[in-house]
Amino acid sequence: MAILVTGGAGYIGSHTVVELLQEGYDVVVLDNLVNGAREALYRVEAITGKAVRFIEGDVRDRALLDGVFAEHAIEAVIHFAGLKAVGESVEQPLAYYDTNVHGSIVLCQAMAAAGVYRLVFSSSATVYGPDAPVPYVETMPRGRTSNPYGSSKAMVEQALTDLCRADARWSVALLRYFNPIGAHPSGQIGEDPRGIPNNLMPFIAQVAVGRRPELSIFGDDYPTEDGTCVRDYLHVMDLADGHVASLSSLEAPGVHVYNLGTGQGVSVLEMVTTFERVTGQRVPYRIAPRRDGDLAAFWADASKAERELGWRAERGLETMLRDTWRWQEQNPQGYA
Ligand code: NAD
Ligand code: WQD
Repeated sequence: MAILVTGGAGYIGSHTVVELLQEGYDVVVLDNLVNGAREALYRVEAITGKAVRFIEGDVRDRALLDGVFAEHAIEAVIHFAGLKAVGESVEQPLAYYDTNVHGSIVLCQAMAAAGVYRLVFSSSATVYGPDAPVPYVETMPRGRTSNPYGSSKAMVEQALTDLCRADARWSVALLRYFNPIGAHPSGQIGEDPRGIPNNLMPFIAQVAVGRRPELSIFGDDYPTEDGTCVRDYLHVMDLADGHVASLSSLEAPGVHVYNLGTGQGVSVLEMVTTFERVTGQRVPYRIAPRRDGDLAAFWADASKAERELGWRAERGLETMLRDTWRWQEQNPQGYA
């Protein structure tokens, strides 16, 4: 039996495939490569010494999915495939609802037709909404969403919850990621954004490697200790381990919601100064206006995942930053 990993050629997916292979799972990856790299999977094979079955295709393609389920004995699906740029989602809402919402529905329809009822879904801390008190706890209701990306995640969470309510054969893990950063310790795979990075960590890494002149820090007048925003950054390898751990929750039917974070908040300025200290690289920055839609501070209550899955983020901030730098230094242009 194998695990189908949609979006497995992307950032979080490729690291999860490493952990799955090392845990002895067979893996089939489906990815249309809009934001992933075939090369990432060759490197996954080099790291693990194991083969990955790769299918280039779209998760919205029902006929293709039917073929995948017919050909491979799939026991569960980990569904990463999706679009994830918040700003782009405001400009192209239909593309986001189509890929993220419609894509998830087509996938579930194909799963049901094939008799596969176990699904792990990539959700996001963004579903708590801007008004939730910190730390975020899974028992809180989903909040209002402020962009189509966040709305698409909340909609899929709701659809999967309704599906489990309607049909007791389904078991679904909704994993709410906080801010994944870092890279595999080999430096072979990592985050390789196309164009100008939206997220803080790849931007810092590209400034350090000389691809960009300086970092803009979006606002230093937030009600936080140093005035910059606070987030819960977690190592992508810990996040990958969280996916493997979450497979055990699928033994029980119904919806299982888990925050995957460290439970610790770190400010933008702390990120920059710690990166400089552990890597010895300079990161020139300037203070820029606030970015629309940013929240001052949020982090996870990650105790449920520890209690129920025995999972906890083990790697600290320095490891996250060192591993990011190893990847960036060894691959200044990413996979290109
Ligand atoms: P990523 O863009 O690196 O990976 C997504 C992968 O999905 C890419 O390889 C892309 O080519 C593929 N894909 C996109 N549309 C597809 C389609 N229609 N059919 C098949 N494949 C398709 O992103 P990531 O950071 O690895 O994120 C993975 C998942 O986790 C996404 O669903 C994302 O929304 C979610 N998530 C990410 C973060 C984060 O900060 N990175 C936080 C919370 C949730
Ligand atoms: C972190 C902090 C920025 C870039 C987003 C999505 C979320 C999730 C992860 C999911 C913020 C500051 C950033 C820069 C900066 N995505 N920053 N200069 O905003 O917490 O979350 O990505 O799939 O849904 O909203 O992460 O890395 O963009 O920003 O000062 O050039 O860094 O203002 O305070 P964020 P981020």
